[in-house]
Amino acid sequence: MATYKVPNGPKDYPCWQKLQWLTRQDGYLQDCFHKYGDVFTLKVGPDFASYVFIGSPQMVQELFAAGPQQVDSGVEATNNPFLLGEKSLVSLSGKRHRQQRKLLTPCLHEKNVKVYSQTIRELAESMARGWTIDQPIPIYQSLQAIFLDLGNEILLGSKDSQRSQKLRDLLLEIMNPKRPVLRAMSFYLPFLQWGPVNIWANLLREKQQIDDILYAEIREHRENPDPSQIDILSVMIASRYDTGEPMTDLELRDEVITLMAQSPEVAGTSLARAFYWILYYPQVYEKLLQELDSLGDNPDPQEIMKLPYLDAVYKEFMRIYPTAVLTFPRLVKKTLQLGDYQFEPGTIILPSIHAIHHREDIYPQAKEFKPERFLGRDFAPYEYFPFGGGHRRCIGTMLAQLEMKLVLATILSRWHLALDSSMPKPSYKGALLPSANKIRIVMKGKRTPSQVSSKTPDRSFSGVN
Ligand code: HEM
Repeated sequence: MATYKVPNGPKDYPCWQKLQWLTRQDGYLQDCFHKYGDVFTLKVGPDFASYVFIGSPQMVQELFAAGPQQVDSGVEATNNPFLLGEKSLVSLSGKRHRQQRKLLTPCLHEKNVKVYSQTIRELAESMARGWTIDQPIPIYQSLQAIFLDLGNEILLGSKDSQRSQKLRDLLLEIMNPKRPVLRAMSFYLPFLQWGPVNIWANLLREKQQIDDILYAEIREHRENPDPSQIDILSVMIASRYDTGEPMTDLELRDEVITLMAQSPEVAGTSLARAFYWILYYPQVYEKLLQELDSLGDNPDPQEIMKLPYLDAVYKEFMRIYPTAVLTFPRLVKKTLQLGDYQFEPGTIILPSIHAIHHREDIYPQAKEFKPERFLGRDFAPYEYFPFGGGHRRCIGTMLAQLEMKLVLATILSRWHLALDSSMPKPSYKGALLPSANKIRIVMKGKRTPSQVSSKTPDRSFSGVN
């Protein structure tokens, strides 16, 4: 009979493990990978349940290959996402998840999202036109705002209506809480929901206002169907499950908010960090500008998407600081063997994207920002997976890539930029608390193609933790 290894892990009190998890998640995980190797257990789940963390490519490959009958995500594996709701794709599992994913995937297919290329370029231009020369620009906040405008247009088909502005403001408030740590903790420690600071009451009020707007949009879309509309809500209303049933209002609400919340949070964080890296290294900045300039003044967005150096820079910033440090938790439903370990039903497993993206055996000098490592080379889907993998892989990958590359290309090629000198080097604080919100850039003026300056000396590549 085969003998399997048992994952190691800290012996500290579960309360201490949970506190570390809540207050310094990424640093804690990095410490544990360093100390215990590719597989370890922490008691950080609800009621201090054990979670198994994995940083072994072989185990991730086997996990992603396992079907939903054997291992799945959704509310069974984690908490009900507060804002997204129980009918969100993120919350579902099994058959319901499969059906919903089948319905949503075509809406976010490459050929359907490509039609938004020009809108993305226009929004990026109008954002940058609002910046003042030589003033520090909080790039993350600017990106959040344009990604929300974009979400309003792509998902609801609404541009500048009062309602879409209100929705944007409410989501910005929810995404940028004044006391982020306290608010994150109030989800896990219910007594904080009744404390004197009203964090919870404010959150509930904002969520209610968001729901009122979304249900009004759904009602109007249903009452005035317009076959020429290509917004995703119209497409979802017209779609049918295999049973012939349409989506309910609750399902529509939960999916719209799920899709709308992703770009501003995750793509906004990734892209703010991308500006940091590119402007920090003059040799990367200049090489990118040369490539962009080679397309002339008004390039076709699809030509931009194919640029090899832009693609390598994009892949490298998604590697070095993956905004999602972990994939969604996976709940084992049938006994599962991964490498030398066997996991029983009920076990929660979390693959670490960050740990694998920082393995020296896959990425030599992994802590250095080196786009060249992606030129002419592809990595396997269990070596490089900023969007997760298997049957839960991110369905917004194509949209996120389009948004990030086009916003970056548009702004870099039209304006001279620099990092604000007072800006601290970004440090890792995780997806919920992006240190990206501290990144400041400065606009130096307008530029036209072929104005690459070669005065600045190369900066040597330096690592991150
Ligand atoms: C930089 C941008 C983004 C990153 C890094 C990212 C990353 C991820 C990751 C890691 C997962 C979990 C996958 C897994 O557990 O295997 C995920 C799931 C998901 N993402 Fe994204 N995402 C991004 C943008 C988007 C966008 C723009 C949308 C929609 C418009 C989106 C919609 C979703 C949905 C609906 C899921 C759940 C999929 C499922 O459960 O079947 N994401 N994303």
